[in-house]
Amino acid sequence: MHFLVTGGAGFIGSNMTDRLLGLGHKVTVYDGFITGHEQYLEEAEKNPEFRLVRARLEDEDTLNEAMKGVDFVFHFAANADVRRGLEHPLKDLEQNTVNTARVLEAMRKNDVKRIGFSSTGSVYGEAEVIPTPEDAPFPVQTSLYAASKLAGEGMIESYCEGYGFQGYIFRFVSILGERYPHGHVYDFYQKLKKNPEELYVLGDGHQKKSYLYIQDCIDAILTVIEKCNEKINIFNLGTDEYCEVNDSIRWITKRLGLDPKLSYSGGERGWIGDNPFIFLDTKKVRSLGWKPKYSIEQAVIKTVEYIMENEWILE
Ligand SMILES: NC(=O)c1ccc[n+]([C@@H]2O[C@H](COP(=O)([O-])OP(=O)(O)OC[C@H]3O[C@@H](n4cnc5c(N)ncnc54)[C@H](O)[C@@H]3O)[C@@H](O)[C@H]2O)c1
Repeated sequence: MHFLVTGGAGFIGSNMTDRLLGLGHKVTVYDGFITGHEQYLEEAEKNPEFRLVRARLEDEDTLNEAMKGVDFVFHFAANADVRRGLEHPLKDLEQNTVNTARVLEAMRKNDVKRIGFSSTGSVYGEAEVIPTPEDAPFPVQTSLYAASKLAGEGMIESYCEGYGFQGYIFRFVSILGERYPHGHVYDFYQKLKKNPEELYVLGDGHQKKSYLYIQDCIDAILTVIEKCNEKINIFNLGTDEYCEVNDSIRWITKRLGLDPKLSYSGGERGWIGDNPFIFLDTKKVRSLGWKPKYSIEQAVIKTVEYIMENEWILE
């Protein structure tokens, strides 16, 4: 099959690209290198079935052209920075919702009808049902990021209803592992590199979070696409455990051989929109026979080790 991966030079997209090429598929990466890295595509570049289109999704002519002959689109390109959403209120809407509409339009014009979308567990807001299943009520949206992703889901569902598309919507917990470029492990590592003696933590350290290792995430996505054939397929992806931020700090500092003095900003939430307890119900994806191979602790340690070997990523 010929896959087009938007955001294919990013963390999740480049790992998916390598996997698809390894399985013998043809892959077009479409990326504007906003947060993506050339280094992530070094292996892919060696494969004759790989093609790179270096452009932004806003460039509709190039996107239309790139879509020709594609069988399936993984739409991963987005502004994935949840925390700073309130600093630029229209960015999530433009990057995550309007650009999803652009991708869908380019697909429609080229008769490409299957799409996999990286949504987020944040769409459940501060969920009332924990672990949170796919059909849980959404109380309120707590971040512009999640609101923009939920609107992206809605666009995809409308194209499925209106134009005979098939949609795969994945609501991820936070993903960890090789090429991880943002989020708490990255932030803590960066702070500890500057000052190994002290670590300032947003919130009270008791926020409960779920994480999933990148290769487990890719296994789950590919399992769903292989086994599910509904018009609209919505799946939570995560492990069946959660940890406190303090647990993660303990694993990170132990792996780095550090014992910093911890201080906290305080409060249940590290920032506005930080969910104090995220834990998704993953029975639906597990019923397909998938289960994660790595625990949260192993995923955190693998991430730290990747950053240790690739400190250029901190620059
Ligand atoms: N990493 C996580 O923990 C996580 C969790 C839930 C959902 N997601 C979602 O998964 C997807 C991938 O996340 P990631 O962590 O790999 O992020 P990332 O920032 O590493 O990758 C995003 C990629 O998209 C590209 N891109 C962004 N805007 C673009 C545009 N307008 N035109 C062309 N290219 C553009 C960037 O250059 C980058 O290569 C995102 O949609 C994100 O919202 C990620």
